[in-house]
Amino acid sequence: MTGKGDVPRSFEAPRIVRLERNLYAACFSLMKLLPARYILDRAQAAGRLLPGGSVVETTSGTFGLALAMTTAVRGFELTLVTANSLIDPPLRRRLEQLGASLHVVEDASGSGAQAERLMLLKKVLERRPETYWPQQYDNPDNRWAYGSFAESVCREIGRVDCLVGCVGSGGSLCGTGGLLREMFAELVILAVDTQNSVLFGHPPGPRLLRGLGNSVLPSNLQHELIDDVHWVGVLPAFAAARQLYRQHAVFMGPTSGAAALVAAWYARRQPDATTLVILPDEGHRYQHTLYNDDWLVGIKGWPVDVPREPVTLSRIEAAGEGDWTRLAWARRALATVTAGSCRS
Ligand SMILES: Cc1ncc(COP(=O)(O)O)c(C=O)c1O
Repeated sequence: MTGKGDVPRSFEAPRIVRLERNLYAACFSLMKLLPARYILDRAQAAGRLLPGGSVVETTSGTFGLALAMTTAVRGFELTLVTANSLIDPPLRRRLEQLGASLHVVEDASGSGAQAERLMLLKKVLERRPETYWPQQYDNPDNRWAYGSFAESVCREIGRVDCLVGCVGSGGSLCGTGGLLREMFAELVILAVDTQNSVLFGHPPGPRLLRGLGNSVLPSNLQHELIDDVHWVGVLPAFAAARQLYRQHAVFMGPTSGAAALVAAWYARRQPDATTLVILPDEGHRYQHTLYNDDWLVGIKGWPVDVPREPVTLSRIEAAGEGDWTRLAWARRALATVTAGSCRS
């Protein structure tokens, strides 16, 4: 079965779209195809994943889909551990049609059940110890996967002064940002997170904006690379994604909306700087939510206008789903910043 073929490279290459004179967007159909390919390549090369072997991962969405696409074409067995608050029926169907086996944890609170998911995953590994676990949160290959992207950015855009991207595992922003900063030492890196995510010091809680943010700290997030952190709530993220579609015909998901909001703000403030924003996935998966007016009326606080400016904080502070806040992170370690912040 294995060695049948591979997901075409063209599937993972982003379109570079010029949104403004000084603002470029890297629009990925499914960004996670990059780490899925790279991590599996390395595992196969190291003999950790043998022909016809099995893979297990805990995922909330797009990495699972990218793994399912890649393992299906390469002929590996895939088990995904997820939670019912994280996975919608159409995504579930797609994963199953690609041949993935799903273990879905019930999480009525909407927390994502990270700890239970990990326990279940470890049980799968105990039963079948030869199974390969990509570990996107802590595997540095997740970051290295973005080498080809950083190279294509230099080729297509040239000098970049500011990079904006969402953080979930940290792989895309820290991988791309770390490499680009090797070339452009002055590069400013802006991280986009959301309310109730622990990545930059919020206490954990239910997160309505999914795909970015986390309830555990991944080691692929390198806080010392980050100049500014922005916490974007679900409402401004949705409004910004819809504006991106309306103004530029760029049809992307909710996390792309959050990143585009922050990037447009920076580009307005710094007209002489070239800003690049990473937009991780297309809008098709969100047709029944973000792009469905009937569904949106059920979201408390909707509709909102796209905000022009974040609220600048002097320390980490919790905020609501209608808010957009910002803190000058100044390339500090997480412990350094949290030591000086009230976390209420
Ligand atoms: C839609 C979406 N946006 C953003 C991210 C964050 O990317 P990363 O895990 O590279 O930090 C993810 C991660 O899964 C995602 O699925």
